[in-house]
Amino acid sequence: MTSAHGKVILLGEHSVVYGRPALAAAISPGAEAAARDGDGASLTVAPWSTTFRAGDGSDLGRALDALAGSFATSDFHLDATLHLPGGGGLGSSAALGVACARALAELRGLALDDARLLDAALAWERVFHGTPSGVDHTLAALGGIGVFVKGEGLRPLRACPRLRLCIGDTGERGSTKEMVGAVAAAYARRPEATAKTFDAVASLVRNGALAVEAGDLRGLGELMNLNQALLASLMVSTERIEDLCRAARAAGANGAKLTGAGGGGCVIAVAGEREAEVLAAWRALGAKAVAVEVGA
Ligand code: MEV
Repeated sequence: MTSAHGKVILLGEHSVVYGRPALAAAISPGAEAAARDGDGASLTVAPWSTTFRAGDGSDLGRALDALAGSFATSDFHLDATLHLPGGGGLGSSAALGVACARALAELRGLALDDARLLDAALAWERVFHGTPSGVDHTLAALGGIGVFVKGEGLRPLRACPRLRLCIGDTGERGSTKEMVGAVAAAYARRPEATAKTFDAVASLVRNGALAVEAGDLRGLGELMNLNQALLASLMVSTERIEDLCRAARAAGANGAKLTGAGGGGCVIAVAGEREAEVLAAWRALGAKAVAVEVGA
């Protein structure tokens, strides 16, 4: 059995697609996979109990095609378990891709260094949206917490005192492809204003990295609130996301924001001593909510 991490983006989603930095952390467990010989390329994912096949027209079918291409092998079956909500902004597709790539390489006895693993996972991720920054599959493969820049990779933070986050699921599902497309459309319509928004997010990320290194949760929370406002200005937030962010702050969180592509998915909050109150506030709104330690 091989495994991979999920991820949360603490600061910087979307602008990371345009070369700005993002502050991201792994969450575990993400996904696990095991491979055996098969007839064609196929994948069964628990807990959905659905089997996908290369050529079946589904996104996961296309991702299997990409994986088969990366390792030049076609007759295999993968059994995977996803420990993250699918499509929730927690890097579920990247975690599946990395766990499956590891399992397939193991089955075929292929040496898999980080570069080859990241290439295979990038080909997998491109199926889900054409222009991934790489943050999801890099965290899925490498874990930890750090500042990611497209084309440069992940710079782990110098120090990371224990960091706990609350994660609340809006229950809504947005499409990463559509959200990334919406931001691309905003950029095409108003290039200068949108670039200024990306630059503003980049400075939040730089300050956020310093705040995490210093264990300054209040500072990190304030930066997350500012990032959420900028994400809303890019039109990737929803009423439900805003409701959960407001509820978290009212319950005493230092800050809250969406994580991942938005349009639904999960919301994160830094709550410090008020963790139980934030989780209770979200559950009272009908959201699934958990507290996790990040950066594994
Ligand atoms: C998705 O988890 C994060 C986005 O920034 C897309 C990407 O970085 O590829 C929205």
